[in-house]
Amino acid sequence: MTFRQEYANASFFFEGLTGSPAHEELIHKVQDFIATENLYLAANREVETKLQNLNNEFHYTKERNPIHSIHTRIKAPLSIIQKLQKRGLDLTVQSARENLTDIAGVRVICSYIEDIYLVANMLVSQDDVELVRTSDYIRDPKPNGYRSLHHIVKIPVFLSNRKEKVNVEIQFRTIAMDYWASLEHDLNYKLSKEKTVSIDRELKEVAEEMAQIDERMQALYNVVLKDMDTRK
Ligand code: GTP
Ligand code: MG
Repeated sequence: MTFRQEYANASFFFEGLTGSPAHEELIHKVQDFIATENLYLAANREVETKLQNLNNEFHYTKERNPIHSIHTRIKAPLSIIQKLQKRGLDLTVQSARENLTDIAGVRVICSYIEDIYLVANMLVSQDDVELVRTSDYIRDPKPNGYRSLHHIVKIPVFLSNRKEKVNVEIQFRTIAMDYWASLEHDLNYKLSKEKTVSIDRELKEVAEEMAQIDERMQALYNVVLKDMDTRK
């Protein structure tokens, strides 16, 4: 649900406040939230378009698609509040904008592992994309086995009267890494809070097997790419 829908549904909130300073303040907060949501949606669209353009160029010039799929999301208001609370930060839109780098999120799923670095490097080489931070959990997987390449970038969004630079968290993964991360998240979510059984070791082993499969698939793809080259 968008901020706009959430606040429309919560219109009962305004009853009894109409015309009061509290009402004015609330309206400003709502407007601020809506403007912020719009800004982050726009940033996600900018990044998605850049990635689609790169993928299409490969499709037309090299007859291959380095990107399998792209997913975008905006962090839910409740998750934003929880993260600010956890870090002891102000619960304001301004604080969220200044402190959280993952309000806008793009997930890029590649079929083959080498395409992750190919696409990620092409994206951050563009002169309007500023690389803020990188976490390479492919080179250095998390202790639980999680693998992905994370880039935090700043991207300009052009509004009616100004340009705003907006943080976007981009996660690059293979299909295998995405499969593991989705199921790991689901399994841990469903597991009892007390964790009477542990599935950590088994999950880590699965992650390692998946990583080996990614390497084998890459090797097969290299054979195919070489074959395609000789036919040109
Ligand atoms: P967050 O507070 O989770 O954003 O952590 P962070 O700011 O230290 O960033 P980190 O790079 O650890 O994780 C950012 C995002 O990567 C998470 O929100 C998840 O989408 C994903 N992620 C990181 N670790 C894991 C993991 O162990 N399992 C799964 N399924 N996803 C993960
Ligand atoms: Mg996060």
